[in-house]
Amino acid sequence: MEQSVKNMRVAVYPGSFDPVTNGHLDIIHRAAKVFDKLIVAVLNNTSKNPLFSLEERMELLRLATKDLPNIEIDGFRDLLVNYMRDRQAYVVVRGLRAVSDFEYELQMASTNRKLSDEVETFFMTSTPQYSYLSSSIVREIAKFHGPISELVPPEVEEALRVKYPTSLGKS
Ligand code: PNS
Repeated sequence: MEQSVKNMRVAVYPGSFDPVTNGHLDIIHRAAKVFDKLIVAVLNNTSKNPLFSLEERMELLRLATKDLPNIEIDGFRDLLVNYMRDRQAYVVVRGLRAVSDFEYELQMASTNRKLSDEVETFFMTSTPQYSYLSSSIVREIAKFHGPISELVPPEVEEALRVKYPTSLGKS
């Protein structure tokens, strides 16, 4: 019997994704097996001055997840709990890489809980091989033309090459 949309377990995986890394993709693949639908929600955060525009970040995520049928890529510029309410989703997925992530994640989950007692945060520990990986580390290596092929999907590697045509380490 076909499941109605109302009974579907929809989760939201929010983040900056500037750009998406293999660590994010690890969480996306695993969460997509647990939930009926996973919305990857990209924050349009004007104060963070991202390297990639919202559209670029969403397009890179679309390309990197094109083989997963139950993924939707979306953008948001609101409080996460408001976005979740609009999308009728009540589960937030976040990845935990190391103990150092915990304080920030606990603060965010507690804040969201305070703002809406309908929202639950589910944490997924990252696969150990990605425990050090972050978008900022990738941007830093790419800036100096270091090797990133094992850290990001090919489309992101290419997009970073375009952003940094010459190594910032060379004058
Ligand atoms: O990848 P990031 O930058 O760690 O993701 C952080 C994100 C986007 C999940 C968080 O900043 C967020 O949800 N921002 C939306 C504004 C909001 O709801 N703030 C209150 C919770 S801290």
